[in-house]
Amino acid sequence: MAGWPTPRRAPDGQAGGMTATTSTQGSGPVARHAGAALRRPTTTTGLAIQAVGLRKKFGRVMAVEDVSFTVSYGRITGFLGPNGAGKTTTLRMVLGLIRADAGTAVIAGKPYAQLPSPARTVGALLDAAAAHPGRSGRDHLRVLATQAGIPSRRAGQLLERVGLASAARQRAGRYSLGMRQRLGLAAALLGDPEVLVLDEPANGLDPQGIRWLRDLLRSLAAEGRAVLVSSHILAEVAQTVDDVVVISRGRTITQAPLDELLAARPGSTLEDIYLELTGSAEGEPS
Ligand SMILES: Nc1ncnc2c1ncn2[C@@H]1O[C@H](COP(=O)(O)OP(=O)(O)OP(=O)(O)O)[C@@H](O)[C@H]1O
Ligand SMILES: [Mg+2]
Repeated sequence: MAGWPTPRRAPDGQAGGMTATTSTQGSGPVARHAGAALRRPTTTTGLAIQAVGLRKKFGRVMAVEDVSFTVSYGRITGFLGPNGAGKTTTLRMVLGLIRADAGTAVIAGKPYAQLPSPARTVGALLDAAAAHPGRSGRDHLRVLATQAGIPSRRAGQLLERVGLASAARQRAGRYSLGMRQRLGLAAALLGDPEVLVLDEPANGLDPQGIRWLRDLLRSLAAEGRAVLVSSHILAEVAQTVDDVVVISRGRTITQAPLDELLAARPGSTLEDIYLELTGSAEGEPS
């Protein structure tokens, strides 16, 4: 059985070695031309995210009891677990939106609150409905860009990248769920961040949208960025991610490269393995 933690691998198959650079300079975290060595941020661990022993209680509800995982640059990490397992709560702790009762989480080597330029280091999609309903998609992004000290022309570029250029002037309140997800992804990408944290970004996307999202996440990882993505669509996850983190009832069950998980159980799908790991084959809530 694949356990946790497992050795990390660079996307090119080389162990470890990441080229140190700073995370906030110039046009972004990665070289854009083919064949160039990927630029890497300076972190003591070389990891994009490292969460250790996270714990969070809401009143009497133990939302997250003991969650630890790592996320590597140049890879997509799927964050999986049943409803109520603690995924969103964990992501909120990683992003400094709520304070952990115990444990630590660092992004690019620092707690979120200590990042010198958070929007340029990490982009997040947590709530697709976050845009002001009366504001156009373009204005929503421009406001966010201004708040983060990012040139507002990025708004137009990103609306193109997420396939919303033709709806740029429409009110976000009239966007479909899939369009709101795309707008949320554009917002996450505003600062050209080296780390992306996406909570169920495939929610509400049609099959074309899901394929588009898969290609987008792949291209972001190929640029050297780290992508942490939660999802319940296991067939899609199996086609998209490099690494898998499974949590259940607020605890990490496993972290492993997807190919190792599958190789350890010949003939099993990710769904089979997930149901076995989470003990929810009967469909009981976590
Ligand atoms: N602000 C809060 N106040 C009280 N309880 C909360 C709060 N946020 C989350 N919880 C509880 O913590 C537990 C974990 O919730 P969380 O949203 O993190 O799960 P999840 O894994 O993201 O689930 P889903 O797959 O349904 O999105 C649940 O029991 C939930 O009801
Ligand atoms: Mg959630």
